[in-house]
Amino acid sequence: MTKDSVLAELLKAGGCVSGEEISGGLGVSRAAVNAAVQALRADGYEISASTRTGYELLRSPDRICAGELAARLGAERMESVVCLDSVDSTNDRAKLLAQSGAPDGTAVAANGQTAGRGRMGRRFQSPDGEGVYLSMLLRPEIPPEDAAQLTAWTSVAMCRAVERTCGVRPGIKWVNDLVLNRRKLGGILTELTVEGESRQIGSIVVGVGINVNQTAFSLELAPIAASLSTETGASVSRCALTAEMIRALDGIRASFPAQKDDYLRAYRENCVTLGREISFTRRGETLFGFAEDIDDDFGLVVRRPDGSRETLRSGETSVRGLYGYV
Ligand code: BTN
Repeated sequence: MTKDSVLAELLKAGGCVSGEEISGGLGVSRAAVNAAVQALRADGYEISASTRTGYELLRSPDRICAGELAARLGAERMESVVCLDSVDSTNDRAKLLAQSGAPDGTAVAANGQTAGRGRMGRRFQSPDGEGVYLSMLLRPEIPPEDAAQLTAWTSVAMCRAVERTCGVRPGIKWVNDLVLNRRKLGGILTELTVEGESRQIGSIVVGVGINVNQTAFSLELAPIAASLSTETGASVSRCALTAEMIRALDGIRASFPAQKDDYLRAYRENCVTLGREISFTRRGETLFGFAEDIDDDFGLVVRRPDGSRETLRSGETSVRGLYGYV
């Protein structure tokens, strides 16, 4: 606890800060500050110490940690942010927290997942230290049918968070994939519980995984996956990205559903499925079409080879030109 608070103070100072100032600000002893600095150094933080000028944080390891998130998001927001080194799945942890009454906006961020889940029961590879794995619990008072839109809203919010952090804007492969240079950068898994009798939403958990530092992928993913590092060559702070992702999800909490037009416009602008040939399956049959539009409920309007149109509301599509599909 003190370690996180001392880190937050060092980050806030943005330069030299005396041990006295830190201990006074946090209401802890000088010895506790000193012990926290030693512990931070053991975690890989480079901190200089001088009797004249105090402590200075010189370099941070690329870890998502509560102290650094606190410096970026503020102590109040951190009251409902859980930051973990490793977890089975941040979505599963957020669902457990939901069951024990955690409030709207509770976020779970992890450095790695041992059982990360994707859509359709797939695994989401979540190597430690290489991606951002984040889930947020939402408790909106909306009918269950409106909740389907949240995945699309989250796609837009995540494109904005990535752009704010590292200057590149991903595209969206309908409905929930983030794409960079025709490869998959990340994905979104939205899970909701609905009370059977009242048909009211109990909770919604929105989970996002973004590949950040991976330089190589498994054989299966190599042809289709991208990371911010492989595509931009830049080194991206996963903590900075996590903070932006939390802010962007908080933006949805503040504006859903009133600002639908804004999210819809951004979704259409960013959707890389549009204007391409696609295939999709229905009842075991593979069907083909041309992705023409996103309708007002974020459905994908497809023109079939016979000229008829239909709107897809969910499910998987393969998109010609993306993920190696030629
Ligand atoms: C997909 O591409 O099919 C969706 C991937 C969603 C992965 C994220 S990582 C954080 C959260 N926890 C999980 O177990 N899954 C989501």
